[in-house]
Amino acid sequence: MIKRNKCIANIKAGYLFPEIAKRRREFAAAHPEAKIISLGVGNTTEPILPHIDKGLTEGAKRLGTVEGYLGYTDEGFLELRERISKVFYQGKFAPDEVFISDGAKCDIGRLQLLFGAGTKVAVQDPSYPVYVDGSVLIGAANGWTGTGYEGIAYLPCTAENNYFPDLSKLPSDSIFYFCSPNNPTGAVANRVQLTELVKAAKEKGTVIIFDAAYAEYVRDPNLPKSIFEIEGARECAIEVNSFSKPAGFTGVRLGWTIVPKELKYAGGESVNADWARICGTIFNGASNIAQWGALAALDDEGVKEMKELCDFYLGSAKLIREAVQSLGIACVGGDNSPYIWARFPGRDSWEVFAEILEKCQVVTTPGSGFGPAGQSFIRFSAFGHRADIEEACRRLARLKG
Ligand SMILES: Cc1ncc(COP(=O)(O)O)c(C=O)c1O
Repeated sequence: MIKRNKCIANIKAGYLFPEIAKRRREFAAAHPEAKIISLGVGNTTEPILPHIDKGLTEGAKRLGTVEGYLGYTDEGFLELRERISKVFYQGKFAPDEVFISDGAKCDIGRLQLLFGAGTKVAVQDPSYPVYVDGSVLIGAANGWTGTGYEGIAYLPCTAENNYFPDLSKLPSDSIFYFCSPNNPTGAVANRVQLTELVKAAKEKGTVIIFDAAYAEYVRDPNLPKSIFEIEGARECAIEVNSFSKPAGFTGVRLGWTIVPKELKYAGGESVNADWARICGTIFNGASNIAQWGALAALDDEGVKEMKELCDFYLGSAKLIREAVQSLGIACVGGDNSPYIWARFPGRDSWEVFAEILEKCQVVTTPGSGFGPAGQSFIRFSAFGHRADIEEACRRLARLKG
């Protein structure tokens, strides 16, 4: 019989979100009358706005015409790559440095093929689970030790360090997944911090994989939305991004990855050329329809709609943050990010999750699911219909006392 891939065997059973879904199902079965509200997952809930939606539907119609039909588009529509560079990076990237993907998560999973099984991996702790799980799958990390995976450098981001890691702990010759605005903490690294990050990466020969999936939620003009706002980043960083959270494309699937030509391996070879090779080998390009939708998202009207959608979720985030703070619970995030990270000192995250589900019938995400430093935290997500968010905020008052 064929043997199981050892790397898969190393993955801890029960990915965070299926586990939450299981506990929710069990609660619902035991309390059939309960009207459960989810502030748990990061899935968008609001319809795609009309102009962007028109881009998608007209794109679908084009495929039914001889003139409009397209087949594979490899790295993506040239016009879309140019527009991404113009709208998000002041035209600083050539089209062959912009790779259109079927979403940020998919590219995060594929990117590690660039570096392979022997690569050292560092993550912010807590972090979005795919950085760690993807590393285990490719064999860059080993078994579960009880608090984390052997071989991953977890760099704690806690209240004590203002949710920015101690970069002296960054391993050399590694890849470092860095997410800002951060999922789950909601923290946004400032310009000084990102400058330190780029400096440390260059000194240590480390490649930053910068996840900017929530960049369009940044409202403070002083906060950077991209690692490429920092001088020197082109030589040490890759950036992944997505239309999921700003345009509601979670189910449409479209993102992009920037791989600058200046980024080189130790032997001087081009990372950009290898990424083009990988995309051509195991990815045949994103959906034509999704790309037409993205083109609509990136004209003046589309950019306005993306801002409107992010503003809506940020409005919900503000309500949650105020509700949490009114209970005397310390929290961060929710101002330039759709996530609120609330602290319950001395308590186990799953126990707090259970208490909130029991008393409020509200589903949250236990912080410990994002890494050891997430213990005693709960993540509240602002992705939900407004009436549900308002009702959930009222119910949170039941946690008092
Ligand atoms: C930090 C972060 N990156 C990437 C993604 C996934 O993006 P996409 O839908 O483009 O795969 C998410 C989704 O929740 C996320 O939180």
